Amino acid sequence: METCPVCGVAFEAPADKGLLTRCPACKCDYLSSGAGAAPLRRPGSLSDRPGDRVTLPATFTERFRLGKLLGSGESSIVFLADDLSSDRRVAVKFLARASGPDQMARFLDERRRVGQVEHPNVAATIDVLELDGCPCLVTEYVEGGSLRQRLSVRKRLGAREAVRVATEVLAGLAACHAVGLVHGALRPENVLFVTHGTVKISDFGIAWNPDAANEESAGESTIGAAWPYVAPECYTEGEAAPGSDVYSAGVILCEMLTGSRPYDATTP
Ligand SMILES: Nc1ncnc2c1ncn2[C@@H]1O[C@H](COP(=O)(O)OP(=O)(O)O)[C@@H](O)[C@H]1O
Ligand SMILES: [Mg+2]
Repeated sequence: METCPVCGVAFEAPADKGLLTRCPACKCDYLSSGAGAAPLRRPGSLSDRPGDRVTLPATFTERFRLGKLLGSGESSIVFLADDLSSDRRVAVKFLARASGPDQMARFLDERRRVGQVEHPNVAATIDVLELDGCPCLVTEYVEGGSLRQRLSVRKRLGAREAVRVATEVLAGLAACHAVGLVHGALRPENVLFVTHGTVKISDFGIAWNPDAANEESAGESTIGAAWPYVAPECYTEGEAAPGSDVYSAGVILCEMLTGSRPYDATTP
């Protein structure tokens, strides 16, 4: 038998524990306890090629109990998990397999630098791991949902609330800029809320695109879905600077206040 980690309903165990299980009662997607692998793609786009799964070593499964699917991005999947070493809930994010050791090394190095930033408006990094050729980020679990989710319910926020959110985003950015780190992909999906309202920026550091193996294509192709928030100079110069994060924060503030972005187009 299988027990849903969210609603507690018991039902017949799935045949394959390396794929997501959907609870027949509450319909949440989760990874069964005892799974030795995790999918790297969101449900729906799930195929069963070996490369679409990350094998979880015992050192990982002994420490983390993966549970509910929190969401998925362009090349990532995020689970809620219990960190048994500290007895707290964390978010575990698996990114698509690296294109090579250099790309992995650069990514791990950058993320470990992000992990050294301690600021109330930056989601804390707990661990940065390499599992089965995939980067894995363990971060503070921010339970109140994203700004994107808020904007999809309310379309815009009150002026006072919008300014407070923008002020906290800028404080988090400033802390990272002070140590030379640029976000590069700031957008409402990466602005998360703690239940009582504090804002936490997530996904600081280089955007992850395993297909962008060479430096020439990296600037354009790593921008991906963040492009409406990306400053024009990132397209012309090919890289983000602190000022481009401030531009992204400005676009987000505009969207929070008016319900739409300053430019409306379907491509950069
Ligand atoms: N630390 C976290 N705490 C809570 N939810 C998170 C956390 N990180 C990510 N999520 C959720 O998972 C979703 C997918 O995350 P991510 O892979 O970063 O993609 P994106 O930021 O492109 O949406 C996010 O939009 C958010 O809803
Ligand atoms: Mg994100």
